[in-house]
Amino acid sequence: MKILVTGGAGFIGSNFIHWWLTRHPQDQIINFDKLTYAGNLENLKDIATSPNYIFVKGDITDGRKVKEAIDGIDVVVNFAAESHVDRSILDPAPFITTNVVGTQVLLDAALDAQVKRFHHISTDEVFGALTLESKEKFSEQTPYRPNSPYAASKAASDHLVRAYHKTYGLPITITNCSNNFGPYQYPEKLISLTITNLLEGKKVPVYGDGLYVRDWLYVEDHCAAIDLVLQKGQVGETYCIGIDSDIENIEVIKKILKILNKPESMIEYVKDRPGHDRRYAIDSTKIKKELGWKPQYSFDEALVATVDWYRGHRSWWQKLKKGDFEKYYQEQYKKR
Ligand code: NAD
Ligand code: TYD
Repeated sequence: MKILVTGGAGFIGSNFIHWWLTRHPQDQIINFDKLTYAGNLENLKDIATSPNYIFVKGDITDGRKVKEAIDGIDVVVNFAAESHVDRSILDPAPFITTNVVGTQVLLDAALDAQVKRFHHISTDEVFGALTLESKEKFSEQTPYRPNSPYAASKAASDHLVRAYHKTYGLPITITNCSNNFGPYQYPEKLISLTITNLLEGKKVPVYGDGLYVRDWLYVEDHCAAIDLVLQKGQVGETYCIGIDSDIENIEVIKKILKILNKPESMIEYVKDRPGHDRRYAIDSTKIKKELGWKPQYSFDEALVATVDWYRGHRSWWQKLKKGDFEKYYQEQYKKR
């Protein structure tokens, strides 16, 4: 089988390529990635010369380049996206261009190439926010109510993917996943930023009261879920993925402080994110019951493994926190 992975040089995409080639060595992967600030070929250097892996530098909004890359492809897995909420608040435009227009360009090319499956990677953020008081969780039936420009752009892309199935019969599947963490995550998200800041001796910025709740999923468990959906998922269906490990941001940070043996004085409360979603939680009954997915890692053990990974890969993340990142950091965390 020939798989076109878009955005494969990013965090989840590169973990997925490793996952897939280890378990399906007979398949061929073409990694199509623009290499934005978040794309990093170092994530894949161990397989760069493998006969069943090819890298193509390209932008998913570039119809001609996409058409070339998709020729002869059986399955598309679309990870390519602008993925950080805070950056979408600073500047929404690239989110619309890549996440919405790029997805439409890919869908057109996938139709022309008559691929057997177009799998779209999405997020639980399309569903909006839950309150702390309610026991409610997001499921495949939850109406879309995105709150950030990032979430709105992902919601639009999900709608397009579904529409191409209904209108043109494109064989699609969609997964809406909770927050991921693990190796190769760009050091701008809560867990990767917290670990790397602490390893650099810097404070950890906590937005607002720190009582926002997320359901953190280890990236390898996400890859296992995507693998199952590609093999056993029903065409036209959506699957929600999460592990019921709902936890407040401040508790996540305290756990990391404990693992690294650092004092709570390293916590710095900063101005809140505008439109900040209070709580996300996922009901993943469908993928568990229908496809037999089960997470393999508890939050605590995966967190220890992730801290160990960042401790052992300083040269990977230290250079990412220089140059443009410093400018972004100053802009994002400036005292207001
Ligand atoms: P990431 O930001 O680490 O990586 C994104 C990748 O896409 C990068 O390699 C980048 O170079 C590439 N890319 C960006 N614009 C492109 C374009 N126009 N053309 C081609 N390539 C382009 O993101 P991630 O965290 O790995 O997320 C991957 C996917 O999973 C995204 O669609 C995201 O919405 C979704 N998702 C992420 C999470 C999470 O917690 N990280 C949770 C649920 C869903
Ligand atoms: P993030 O990792 O950006 O993921 P998302 O916004 O997609 O959920 O943020 C996770 C939570 O952590 C979210 O409630 C915002 C909060 N947060 C902070 O408190 N400080 C930070 O520096 C960052 C990046 C996030």
